[in-house]
Amino acid sequence: MDHLPAIIDLARQQAAGDQSGHDFAHIQRVAANARQLLTAYPDADQDLVLSTAYLHDYYDEKLVANTTAAKAALVQTLRTAVGLTQERIDQITFIIDHMSFSKNIETHQHLPLAGQIVQDADRLDALGAVGIFRAIRYGATHGNPDYDPHIPPRQELTAANYRQPSTIVNHFYEKLFKLAATMNTPIGRQMATERTAFMKQFIKEYFQEIGK
Ligand code: ADP
Ligand code: NI
Repeated sequence: MDHLPAIIDLARQQAAGDQSGHDFAHIQRVAANARQLLTAYPDADQDLVLSTAYLHDYYDEKLVANTTAAKAALVQTLRTAVGLTQERIDQITFIIDHMSFSKNIETHQHLPLAGQIVQDADRLDALGAVGIFRAIRYGATHGNPDYDPHIPPRQELTAANYRQPSTIVNHFYEKLFKLAATMNTPIGRQMATERTAFMKQFIKEYFQEIGK
């Protein structure tokens, strides 16, 4: 049975109204990225990749007040309403629980191939023109300045300082320009490298315009 339409509906309901950069458009782009990456992995578990891509932010701390309760509710719905097996649910939640940027800052979490693909798909959505929009949106929502010559970029992100305020331009140096090197799949790394070159061009132009 094809469970994906029901999973897509769940993801759409959950992401409705999000303003933090994790709206349903983000979810759809991640799923589209995952489909593109899958073309290089015909033997990967496509159903697991796509199910997880749609659900990857479902119980994220940025989106729900109580992640434990939201995860429990999702697991229950997947079991009873969608009809997934417990084994399938465990595969999906294992990937979600270990793939996020913040979970991987200090310790690298090993993911199965399906998880590596979803993680690459999510990271690609922080890069390129889309990534520029998302960084500006995030920074503006959090009241961060575009750029401030008195606030140097942090050399190293840690779990403790990741959510501390910075400038939007700093975010490119602190995180976004480093993402391409962390990609799991060669095709993902290639796409990330191209998107990063575009972002570097954008920042270069910005500094030229402001005379820095
Ligand atoms: P995720 O785990 O999905 O990467 P984040 O909240 O860290 O979640 O990122 C969501 C988006 O917001 C990404 O595009 C990311 O680059 C951007 N973002 C995160 N932190 C900052 C920041 N301090 N300044 C600007 N953009 C940010
Ligand atoms: Ni995401």
